[in-house]
Amino acid sequence: MAEKNNKMVKSGSAAPVDPSLATNLPMSDERTPPDAIASDSELKACIEQDVQALGGAQAAACVRLLTEVVASANTAYHSNDAPAISDADYDRAKKALMRLEAAFPKLLKSDSPTQKVGAAPSDAFGKITHSVRMVSLENAFEAPEIRDFVARLRNFLGFSAETAIDLTAEPKIDGLSLSLRYENGHLVSAATRGDGAVGENVTANALTIGDIPHLLCGNCPDVLEVRGEVYMSRADFAALNAAGDRIFANPRNAAAGSLRQIDASVTAARPLRFFAYSWGALSSPLASTQLGAVERLSTLGFQTNPLTRLCHTVDAALEHYARIEAERASLGYDIDGVVYKVNDLAIQARLGFRSTTPRWAIAHKFPAETAWTRLRGIEIQVGRTGALSPVARLEPVTVGGVTVSNATLHNEDYIAGQNNRGIAIRENDIRVGDLVKIYRAGDVIPKISEVNIAERPFDAQPYQFPDHCPICHSAAIREPGDAVRRCTGGMACPAQAIEKLRHFVGRGGFDIEGLGALLIEEFYHDDSLSIREPADIFTLESRDNSNIAKLANRPGWGAASAAKLFQSINARRVIGLDRMIAALGIRHVGEQAARMLARHYTDWPRFLAAVTQASSKDSPAWDDLIAIDGVGEVLANSLVTAFHQPAERKIIDDLASHLDIRPVEVANPGQSELTGKTMVFTGTLANMTRAEAKARAESMGAKVAGTVSARTDILVAGEGAGSKARKAADLGVKVIDEDAWLRLIR
Ligand code: IVH
Repeated sequence: MAEKNNKMVKSGSAAPVDPSLATNLPMSDERTPPDAIASDSELKACIEQDVQALGGAQAAACVRLLTEVVASANTAYHSNDAPAISDADYDRAKKALMRLEAAFPKLLKSDSPTQKVGAAPSDAFGKITHSVRMVSLENAFEAPEIRDFVARLRNFLGFSAETAIDLTAEPKIDGLSLSLRYENGHLVSAATRGDGAVGENVTANALTIGDIPHLLCGNCPDVLEVRGEVYMSRADFAALNAAGDRIFANPRNAAAGSLRQIDASVTAARPLRFFAYSWGALSSPLASTQLGAVERLSTLGFQTNPLTRLCHTVDAALEHYARIEAERASLGYDIDGVVYKVNDLAIQARLGFRSTTPRWAIAHKFPAETAWTRLRGIEIQVGRTGALSPVARLEPVTVGGVTVSNATLHNEDYIAGQNNRGIAIRENDIRVGDLVKIYRAGDVIPKISEVNIAERPFDAQPYQFPDHCPICHSAAIREPGDAVRRCTGGMACPAQAIEKLRHFVGRGGFDIEGLGALLIEEFYHDDSLSIREPADIFTLESRDNSNIAKLANRPGWGAASAAKLFQSINARRVIGLDRMIAALGIRHVGEQAARMLARHYTDWPRFLAAVTQASSKDSPAWDDLIAIDGVGEVLANSLVTAFHQPAERKIIDDLASHLDIRPVEVANPGQSELTGKTMVFTGTLANMTRAEAKARAESMGAKVAGTVSARTDILVAGEGAGSKARKAADLGVKVIDEDAWLRLIR
C-alpha cells in the first residue's frame, strides 16, 4: 500500500513524497465508516487542516477522500434512502471540501459533489442525444491569428484576397452552453453540452430561468433548437456567495452548479440568465445570415447580446474586439473574448465543421491575466503514456479572480529555459524558490512566463529532472526528438496503469457509469476487487463470489449500488470498434484517429490482422495503414508497437475475449451514396478547393485517401489529373470528372 497514490513526487529527488495522507484514501472495507469522523484520523485531519499549509499531494489526497465521503453520503441518502452519516458530519466534510477546492482550484472537478446537490448527475439526469452535435470553438489570442483565420477561409473557399467575407463579432460569454428544443413553439427539452454528442436533460431546471421562453411568440419553425449560454451576473454571484458559504469560485461555476441541480426548485432560486447566439436542428431556416438569424431569435423572445455587430473587414472586427474589451469591466457579467462568425449562412454551410469545431467561427480570447508569486517546489506527475510531467507548486496567488497554486512546467527543457531544439525561450531557467510570473487565459492551465532573476534566492539550484520514474523507479527515458521523458515501466508502473484504466473507463473510452477515477484507483490496490488491467473490470463479478457482498458492504453502497455497477459494466460488453480502439489509450491514437481506423478496417478481426501484419514496414498492410487519411507514420508506429509488444498485446487480447466488438456501420444506402466509400481526389477542381472537396466527401460519410489503391472506390479526376488517374484505370477503380462529383454532392 505504500506506493498507493504517490502520483506526485517532490522536487528534484526521485523519492516518493511523504504519503501520510495519500496512503489513507478510502479503501472499500478497510476504511473506518464515514459516520465516525472523530474515529477516522485521516478524515479528521482533512477536515481540520489549515488549508494554506497543505502541500499539493496532501490537498489532492484530502479532496479525494472528502469527495468520496460526501459522494457516498449523497448516494446513501438520495439513492439508497439510508443516510450513512449524520447531517453535522456531512456538513463538516462538505465544507472542508469546499475550502480545499477554493484554495486549490485545479482540484475542483466539475463533477465534485460541491457543485451539485444529491447523487451524481449521470444517474440523476436523463441523457439527451443532440440531433446536431454541440461543438466548441477554435481559439486565438492575437490579431494576426484572426487575419490568418480569414485567409484560411478564403483559401478553403478558393476566394481571392479581394473577396470580402463579412463577419459578425460578439462577446464570448463565460457560462455554460445549453440547447433548447422547441416543437411548435413549445419548449420540450433542454440539454447541457455534455460530450457534444450527448448532454444531460436539464429541462425542469431550464424552465425556471426567466430569460428562457416556455412558448415562443410569433411565427417560428416547427422544430427549433436554440443554443446559447447560461450565465450569472457578477452582482448575483457576489450576492449568492455572500448569502451562504463561499460555494463557487467564479460566476461560471456558479451558473453550472446552479443549473445542474437535481432539485429544480434550487435552480429556480438562483439568478440565472440566458443569451441565445446559435441553433441546432431547424425544420426551416431562420434567415440567410448569422445576424439575421440572431435578430429572428430576438423577435421570438430570446435575449441576444446587444454588442453583436456586423463587420465587413477584419480591421472592423478587430476594432469591435477592442471596443468590447474596453467595456468588459462594466458589462456586469464575465466574458472571456469575442467570437467572430462568417455572416453568410450559405458560406457557413460550405465551410462546415472539423471534428469538434466549425471552420466558420473563431474565438478571439482576451489576453492572459498575470501575477507574480514564489515557486515552492516542482513535482512530477506520471501520465497514461508514462510521460513525466513537472508541475509547479506555487505560493497561492490570485490571477484574474481565481486562486492559482499549481502551474504546468511542460517538460525538462522548458524548466531549463529552452525549447526542445535547444533554442532559448526564456533568459533564465526556473528554480525552486524563484519569483515567477504566472499567466492564465480563461480555462487554460496556468503557465509560468517569466522569472525575476534579481529575486532569486542565493542558494537556488538548477532543477535536476529525474531519470527514473518517481512511482515505479523504472528508468525514465527520453527518445531522440521527444521533448518528454517517459517511464519505461508500462502497465507494471502503478501510475501509468491507473491513468490508462481511468482513460479506459472514461468518456472517450468505455464510459462505464459509476466506475470513476476514484474507484479505479481504489480497486487497483485492492486484493480481491483488484483491477490491474481492463479485462479485470469484466471479471470483477465472476472471479470471486464474495465481490458482490464486498461491494455492497462499502460505506454508503448497499446491494442496489453493487448491482448497478455490474449492470453498467455488463452494458459495455458490447462495444463499437471505434470506442474499443480509442479506449486502449495508445499514444497518438485519440478519438478522431480511432474513428478513422475503425471506418477503414470496419471490424475487429480485420483491424487486428492489419496492425499485426503492419509491424513489417515492407508489408502492404503498413502501406495501407499509413495511406489512411489522418494516420501518419508517428501514429502508425505507435499503434503497431502497442500491438506488437507481447505484454501489451496480451492485455488487449484478454480484454477482447470478454467483449462483443461491433463492426462500424457502413454503407447504409439511405445515408448517402458516398457512405463508407474510399475516395481520392487528383488534379485541379474548378468549383472548389481540394480542402472543401475533402470536407464535403467526409461529411457524406466517405473516407478520403491520399493515394490510389485496390481499396479505392472512386477517384475524382480534376483538370490535369496524371499518374493517379492512370493507376486507377489500371486497377479498375471508378474514375469520375468534376461535373459528376458536383452531381454526387448535390
Ligand atoms: S458559438 C457552432 N457564440 O464558447 C457555434 N459560443 O469555447 C458554437 N460561447 O461551446 C458556439 N459565447 O459555450 C458561440 N457568442 C458565443 C459564445 C459562445 C460563449 C461558448 C459556447 C461554446 C464555447 C466554446
